[in-house]
Amino acid sequence: MKAQQLFDVQGDVTFITGGARGMGQAFAEVMAANGARIALYDIDGPALEEAAAALRATGAEVITTQGDVADSAALRAAVDATVAHWGKLDSVFANAGMSAGRGYALSEAGRLEAVDLATWERVLQVNLTSVMVTMQAATPHMKAQKSGRMIVNSSVGGLRVEPQVGYGYSATKSAIAHIVRHAALELAPWNILVNCVAPGAFRTNLGSGRLNDPAIAKIFEDMSPLKRIASLEEFKGLMLLLASPASSFMTGTVIPIDGGAMVI
Ligand SMILES: NC(=O)c1ccc[n+]([C@@H]2O[C@H](COP(=O)([O-])OP(=O)(O)OC[C@H]3O[C@@H](n4cnc5c(N)ncnc54)[C@H](O)[C@@H]3O)[C@@H](O)[C@H]2O)c1
Repeated sequence: MKAQQLFDVQGDVTFITGGARGMGQAFAEVMAANGARIALYDIDGPALEEAAAALRATGAEVITTQGDVADSAALRAAVDATVAHWGKLDSVFANAGMSAGRGYALSEAGRLEAVDLATWERVLQVNLTSVMVTMQAATPHMKAQKSGRMIVNSSVGGLRVEPQVGYGYSATKSAIAHIVRHAALELAPWNILVNCVAPGAFRTNLGSGRLNDPAIAKIFEDMSPLKRIASLEEFKGLMLLLASPASSFMTGTVIPIDGGAMVI
């Protein structure tokens, strides 16, 4: 089979949280470049419209909703509106997430006894509950189609202990990696495939662009055998794989994309 057929997402409809920037935007770009239609949901209105305009300039069909993923009703409504608009939903990328602040290796505020519970609750809402809600909202549509792809964005910080990241981040990223396994089992009879990506360090705005600080960047570079931070272009191949026919026998997987960080 030709690569073009294996990775064919032409005409697909995909819904992406946190799609205005970073990893969500990278997924939108690779899907749009291969003929998919894109629904973006993001809290940052100006960035959202900028990202949508850039995709439309390439000929892609794009709809946008400005909203907080912690607003479960609005998030659900945006998924339903996507299906109302295009009549189907092929894939969702539950991607939006936030840093929980620096971990104890980098800041006293990251120590267990210093963790601020208001921040903890917010991180649970944004990084964990929103993933559950995105998957819940997609499920009836995908069940009716008897097909669908759910992709969730965890982190290597959710698979192993990284004292550089906060407790809330590691707890939520670990939880969503496990929700994926649970849902993959439940949803398999409807041919709904549920997978998780666990990135290492990519240069984005996460944590107020923490990797723009050379001292912090060096710490994250040294966490992988490749000794560098990844570019967003390097995220696209795995994401296209998980959204396309090439991964039709993959479900319940948690895939690191981390320059080998998990082997150290
Ligand atoms: N960058 C990395 O190194 C890295 C590593 C592992 C995992 N991740 C995960 O990737 C995901 C995307 O982060 P990124 O690195 O692309 O960061 P980013 O800050 O560049 O992009 C995040 C996007 O999500 C949006 N967003 C943030 N909070 C939101 C909310 N409450 N409601 C709706 N939209 C919201 C932002 O406006 C932004 O457009 C996160 O879940 C993050 O944990 C990133």
